[in-house]
Amino acid sequence: MTAQHFSEEIEQQIDWLLKEMTIQEKLGQMNQLSADNMEVNYDLIRRGMAGSVLSITDPAVANKAQQIAMEESRMGIPIIIGRDVIHGFKTIFPIPLGQAASFDPDIVEEAARTAAVEASEVGIRWTFAPMVDITRDPRWGRVAESPGEDPFLASRMAVAMVKGFQGKDLSNPTSLAASAKHFAGYGAAEGGRDYNSTYIPERQMRNLYLKPFEAAVKEAGLATIMSAFHANDGIPATGDKHLLKSILRDEWGFDGFVVSDWASVDEMVVHGYSQNRSQAANQAIEAGIDMEMVSGTFVEHGEKLVRQGSLSMEDLNNAVSNILRVKFRLGLFENPYVEEDRDSKFYHTEHLALAKKAAEESFVLLKNQEETLPLKNIKTLAVFGPLSDAPHEQLGTWVFDGEKDHTITPLDALKTMYGEQVEILHHPGLKFSRDKDTTSFVKMRKLAAAADAIVVFLGEESILSGEAHSLSNLRLQGAQSKMLKELAALNKPLVSVFLAGRPLEIEKEVELSDAVIYAWHPGTMGGPAIADVLFGKSSPSGKLPMTFPKNVGQIPIYYSHENTGRPATDNEMLIDEIPVEASQTSLGNRSFYLDSGHEPLFPFGHGLTYTTFEYGRIELLEDVLQKDGILKVGVTLKNTGKAMATEVVQLYTRDLYASVIRPVKELKDFKRITLAPGEETVVHFELNIRSLAFWNRDMEEVVEPGEYELWLGGSSDTTEKVNFQVK
Ligand code: NOJ
Repeated sequence: MTAQHFSEEIEQQIDWLLKEMTIQEKLGQMNQLSADNMEVNYDLIRRGMAGSVLSITDPAVANKAQQIAMEESRMGIPIIIGRDVIHGFKTIFPIPLGQAASFDPDIVEEAARTAAVEASEVGIRWTFAPMVDITRDPRWGRVAESPGEDPFLASRMAVAMVKGFQGKDLSNPTSLAASAKHFAGYGAAEGGRDYNSTYIPERQMRNLYLKPFEAAVKEAGLATIMSAFHANDGIPATGDKHLLKSILRDEWGFDGFVVSDWASVDEMVVHGYSQNRSQAANQAIEAGIDMEMVSGTFVEHGEKLVRQGSLSMEDLNNAVSNILRVKFRLGLFENPYVEEDRDSKFYHTEHLALAKKAAEESFVLLKNQEETLPLKNIKTLAVFGPLSDAPHEQLGTWVFDGEKDHTITPLDALKTMYGEQVEILHHPGLKFSRDKDTTSFVKMRKLAAAADAIVVFLGEESILSGEAHSLSNLRLQGAQSKMLKELAALNKPLVSVFLAGRPLEIEKEVELSDAVIYAWHPGTMGGPAIADVLFGKSSPSGKLPMTFPKNVGQIPIYYSHENTGRPATDNEMLIDEIPVEASQTSLGNRSFYLDSGHEPLFPFGHGLTYTTFEYGRIELLEDVLQKDGILKVGVTLKNTGKAMATEVVQLYTRDLYASVIRPVKELKDFKRITLAPGEETVVHFELNIRSLAFWNRDMEEVVEPGEYELWLGGSSDTTEKVNFQVK
């Protein structure tokens, strides 16, 4: 499904309603309540003072609220019930950053569809997802919810999730209106401190941060958008008319509605942008906020603002029309109630199977020295670590409805799935990720002595990532590093599996381990997925959606940076090589850190498998193309190893010179290719030259003629390239 279709009939019904509604009833539609006190809410709904309630999860309550809206309020307009259904409802899928690591829009779409089926069962018809904030700062806790650092990957994920949530037809009772958030630039918060200011110039906003939003609107028929908490260059996103009207409505033609983030209207007063709540309401509505999440300034001040002429009826009518349009498209007027005795699909076998597959695809194999993985020829396996058996923690951030009792941990899965062929010895070593108490290390070491191999589950608890959970130190918490060091000293095959909401600083731990899997917070079925990957039933195929820094000091570090006039090279002189009493010099020095060089720990797009892939020469059909042309390019890919595996083939380009500096590499396409040992295939791509367009010096989105480079490979640090020209 793509854009929501314009319907004359719906527009006529909206016009009719607008003529009948009082100012206060209009403002009521623009008001969203939280479900904390439903008795109060019922009364407000009855009086036409609410258009939406957030987080009702009991179908009987949903139906009662709806019945009051339909039968007892004067206008009989249904409410829309929203909830944060971020990476699953009951069946929890990997955190969105993990889903992005799969580079698999199909499974991401299916996961969102599954979440919609489960959530709609209780009357929810609107989710506050997908979060599509591009971010280059793992200190920011919300990286867990994001699609990572790249605008192309983020756009593919955004489109997939919107299609999944919204289904083929919004009026289907299992469809949820999606809400892309947080519009826009929230992921660039200074220093990764949540809610903080951003300074994103217009060109970067358009070339980078707006991309996934634009794709969701234009390619997937996005129903709603949520504004952000922060201010960009002094303008709060919730009061940013340029974003919310000029770009979103006028340029992109968005006709759904915009909801503010939680109390972000009221918070414009705290920012120091609005003098008081009344002005905040005025500024937000004027800027293009249609519905206010929980802070109530619209209903409180809107009527007075209209009567005194500072708020126009046109702005009000537009806002209400946008909201009603989505309610009509959802079919809420004809079908407001949820079937209370619908057959439950919670944790349905198919949902669990999909969650397992999604988790498997999200795992990134960062290291596999001497084919330590998959595990083979072992009789006894020692399983350690605070996250080896932590059902709540592996679910990740933003889980309200998924229950830990339904979670299968790695320990559970290893025992039940492989316990007959391998003896499993277990000790958590630490009770939780921040635990500093090392007293049980003695016991752990004893167990380890009896094992043929060790798998240790490290990382962070889910509460350490997510909203308002930023960190300034990304090293492993508690005594985890110490634990790994002690285990490494035993000289047994050592596998580290990290469960985390963000890229952590793990350089030392990677060095000490023979193999490393980054498993994010993998969700309900994380355990079985990990067990099968460890034993080689499936090969890891995920690729990093974010660059992994060596240390916090390197942040921000991302692959698609611009070139400086003095780009770093591989043979820079590092701190220990500088002679004592060296005289001042800048000549010959370039853009890098004396103490950590210029390269990250792992680049964007990196990820190993249980086999080896060999890339042939890149074959370009034509190397001179017109601006509206299609570039056809292919490469032979051969599985030269011993296992069946999937490679994510990535296509990058660079515009060598332009009216403004372009990134040194930009992802433009990717494909997941599965090959059996010895099998080879030609992987073809068709690149629309229009996709090379960018916002140029005159702030126009154009393809500029000139020289380009193109790479095909298995990571952003691939070096095999060809050149082409655009006329
Ligand atoms: C605040 C968060 O920023 C937003 O993402 C979320 O959807 C709302 N709260 C509602 O819970």
